[in-house]
Amino acid sequence: MLERFGHGGDLLTAQELFGHGADHFIDFSANMNPFGPPTCVADLLGRYMDVIRHYPDPAVRALRSKLALHHGVSDSSILVGNGAAELIDLVFRLLHPTHTVLAQPCFVEYGDAAVKSGSSIRAIELQAEQEFRLTKQLVRDKLALLREEGVESGEAIWFFGSPNNPTGKLIDPSLVHDLLLEGERVVVDEAFMDFVPEEHTYSLAKAAADHERLLVIRSMTKFYAIPGIRLGYVIGSPEMIARLQYFQIPWSVNSLAQGIGEAVLEDQEYAASTLRFVAEERCWLSGQLLAIGLTVHESAANYLLVSIPPGRGWTAGLLQRALGSRGILIRDASRFEGLDNCYCRIAVRLREDNAALLQALTSLLGSDCAAEGKA
Ligand SMILES: Cc1ncc(COP(=O)(O)O)c(C=O)c1O
Repeated sequence: MLERFGHGGDLLTAQELFGHGADHFIDFSANMNPFGPPTCVADLLGRYMDVIRHYPDPAVRALRSKLALHHGVSDSSILVGNGAAELIDLVFRLLHPTHTVLAQPCFVEYGDAAVKSGSSIRAIELQAEQEFRLTKQLVRDKLALLREEGVESGEAIWFFGSPNNPTGKLIDPSLVHDLLLEGERVVVDEAFMDFVPEEHTYSLAKAAADHERLLVIRSMTKFYAIPGIRLGYVIGSPEMIARLQYFQIPWSVNSLAQGIGEAVLEDQEYAASTLRFVAEERCWLSGQLLAIGLTVHESAANYLLVSIPPGRGWTAGLLQRALGSRGILIRDASRFEGLDNCYCRIAVRLREDNAALLQALTSLLGSDCAAEGKA
């Protein structure tokens, strides 16, 4: 199984499973910017030998300042971490909730980190018929249920992704403000928010800096295509950020990551062309996937949740294997709580790669799955 370690983008597992060299896959299973890292990253790597003899800045001052400027918040409202993954874990270790409300399907690390911190999971089940949207009604019903069970305000954490992975849906910010008014604690993972042209309407980053019960987590690894570097940050009130910092491992963010973070934030042309390209290409790819008979869910991010209609015996797992042996990786999304074995997740890549995926899908889905297995 490609998701042996729980995530997409695992090229070594793909190599073991499908026999191609790790560098020879077209990878739709991890949601990275298809442009690859900005060119400034290669320049920095060349100069890095001079830097590694020193410890990194333990307070990540320069990058924090740039991020603060970028979001219009104060430096003391930002904590940088070793990827958003570190910060998800850190948030649970600090907040230590009795209950965690998740809108499922969602990124598996939310549930894993919650359970590791001793929390129970209280799921809101998002419905395919409602396009997997988190509605105010679903939130109100869950809140009423928790109150009936004697869960007091502020005892639970509501942890949402916006855009949510794997559905690509944004969360209505007013829904989060309603929860805050009820005295609840909310964490919003905006790992893919940089891909959203209407970020200013949907992001809660600025709001988090002014509210002691709201935290926003961001990742820099997806938008800047640097998942091997590990870089993310959390925005919150200065008091919350100071408490999180207390729990963080010293020098968690190495100097290369800090330097790359500072440099990529300067590249506004890269950001603007990514936003333009991803919106247009997602629209094209989604139209093509629909045309070959797949059900495609509307997404605000750089990936699409797709389901395979029943009929010819294909499941996401079987399709993943058949594509994998052709050197193409997709995510089997049936491993997300709340999705069945028809669901896959596909990243938006460059046109040439997307066309190769479509060609392979057309030939596979046009054939009977059992016949394909024998071929
Ligand atoms: C929704 C979501 N949040 C956070 C992360 C972790 O991101 P990072 O690479 O910054 O640790 C991922 C990674 O796939 C993700 O999908």
